[in-house]
Amino acid sequence: MNQNIHIIDHAVIHDRMTILRDKNTPSYMFRQCLNDIALILAVEATRHLPMEQKRVETPLAPYKGSALVGTPLIVPILRAGLALSDSLQRIIPHADTGHIGLARDHDTHEPFEYLNRLPENLDRPVFVVDPMLATAGSMLATLEILKAEGANMTQVTIITLVCAPEGLDRLYKVFPEITVYAAAIDSHLDDSAYIVPGLGDAGDRYFGTD
Ligand code: PRP
Ligand code: URA
Repeated sequence: MNQNIHIIDHAVIHDRMTILRDKNTPSYMFRQCLNDIALILAVEATRHLPMEQKRVETPLAPYKGSALVGTPLIVPILRAGLALSDSLQRIIPHADTGHIGLARDHDTHEPFEYLNRLPENLDRPVFVVDPMLATAGSMLATLEILKAEGANMTQVTIITLVCAPEGLDRLYKVFPEITVYAAAIDSHLDDSAYIVPGLGDAGDRYFGTD
């Protein structure tokens, strides 16, 4: 496995993933559990953000501390990426957000773009968030847009929940320098390019449009 792939082994993630995978879980609980996992992944994925020294005065003495420096960018891939971006924004409230709207064609499984609202400066830490990495078509389309518009791919981190091995292979053939934080790598893709065992259509289950 590529050393840039981090599968977060955490009791709360395992607990919530099992609830997400259960086909009987209602939308409101699906949202709560996904938000819990997103928060833990956000904490992990922001571990190495750039810092600078910061001196403050405690009520008792001077203190030489640290502060986050710079303005990261969060890029949710709509729709389902919105499920992750809120938690990330809680951890880094000063981050900007740029939206990419993609949807997979049901027959070809290829993504088509319906929205692109990125800021001008992409040369900074960028977090691309989407709960499902299946064929990786949507992720690769997004990364190609970011690269074409000036992102430094060594500063790009993907946060996702469930990856298919086929998608990770495809992703790393094109962008070996990319860092991925995820909750699970599943078995395989089925004939409709759904992740098995997976959790079904993440966007539909999160937004209740099943
Ligand atoms: C899902 C998911 C990813 C994509 C993954 O979105 O959120 O964006 O499919 O599949 P891929 O790796 O094969 O491209 P979908 O296109 O269903 O749109 P939605 O978020 O609006 O539900
Ligand atoms: N998109 C999803 O929401 N789920 C999958 O299993 C594959 C793509």
